[in-house]
Amino acid sequence: MTIIDGKTIARAVREDAKKRTETLRAQGVVPCLAVILAGEDPASVSYVTAKEKALAEAGMASRDIRLSAGISEAELLSLIISLNEDAAVHGILVQLPLPKHVREGRVIDAISPKKDVDGFHPVSVGNMVLGKDGFLPCTPNGIMRLLRALDIPVNGAHAVIVGRSNLVGRPLSILLTRKDSNATVTMCHTGTTNLAYHTRQADILIAAAGKAGLITGDMVKEGAVVIDVGVNRVSDISAKKGYRLRGDVDFEPVSQKASFITPVPGGVGPMTIAMLLQNVADAAEKTRDA
Ligand code: GUN
Repeated sequence: MTIIDGKTIARAVREDAKKRTETLRAQGVVPCLAVILAGEDPASVSYVTAKEKALAEAGMASRDIRLSAGISEAELLSLIISLNEDAAVHGILVQLPLPKHVREGRVIDAISPKKDVDGFHPVSVGNMVLGKDGFLPCTPNGIMRLLRALDIPVNGAHAVIVGRSNLVGRPLSILLTRKDSNATVTMCHTGTTNLAYHTRQADILIAAAGKAGLITGDMVKEGAVVIDVGVNRVSDISAKKGYRLRGDVDFEPVSQKASFITPVPGGVGPMTIAMLLQNVADAAEKTRDA
C-alpha cells in the first residue's frame, strides 16, 4: 500500500507555475489573482491564506479582498465587474461558500470566463463537458494529475465517485469519462441505495461527500485506489486548535485494503492549490498572447 504524497506531486506543478511566472515577469506581465472572501468562516480563511501564500511563493501577485459577511449581492457583483475590466488582474476567485443571502450562481455568472480560474462559470463547465479549451476546476483536475503522476491505470477502470457536488464530484465524472481518460464512472449520492454495494465495485474510489469517516473498510475492494477529498473538522480536545481534520475515508481500516490512498491532510488539498496556480499562469499567458 502506498500513501500518496500530494505535497510532493503538487510541488512539481508549483515549480512549473513559478518558472512560467519568471518568463511572464521578464516579458512585463505579473500574473495576478484577485481573491475575494466574504465573511470569516474559519475554514475559508485558512484556504484563502494558503492560496495567497502559494501565489507569493510562485512569484505571482494577489489582490486580497476581504469583505464583511453582510456585503450585499449588488455590491459584490459590481466589484466583480470592475475586476473583469481591470487589465492587471488575470484571475478572479470568489471563495465559497458565500453568505446565505448572496446567490452563488449570480456571483459566479458575473465572473468573466476569461478570468474564471476556478472553472465554475457555466461557460467553463460547458467547455469542459464538450472537451473544448477552458479552465478546469482545480480539485478534479488535481485528482486527474495525481492519478497520472502515479501511473495509475484509468483507461478501462471502474471509478466510483461518492458525492455529486458542482465543485468536485460532478466535474470529476466528466474528466474521468473523457476519451483521453476512458474510465467507466458510477456516481453515488445521497439518493443512492446500498452505497457499499457500489463502492465495493470500484477500482478507483473517490470520496467527496463531506462526511467524516463515511467510507469504512468493508466498503472497499482489495487493491482499490482510494482518493479522499473530504476535509472535515472534527472536535478533538487533545489537539492544539481543539479540532483535527478528518477525511471522508476511515483511513486505518481502508488503508489495509487499498493499493494507493490519499491522506488528509496532505493528499488532494495541495493539488487543488497547485492547479489553481497553473490556471492563473494560463490566464496570464492568454492575455499576453491576445
Ligand atoms: N470552497 C471550497 N473549495 C473551493 C474552491 O476550490 N474554490 C473556491 N472558490 N471556493 C471553494
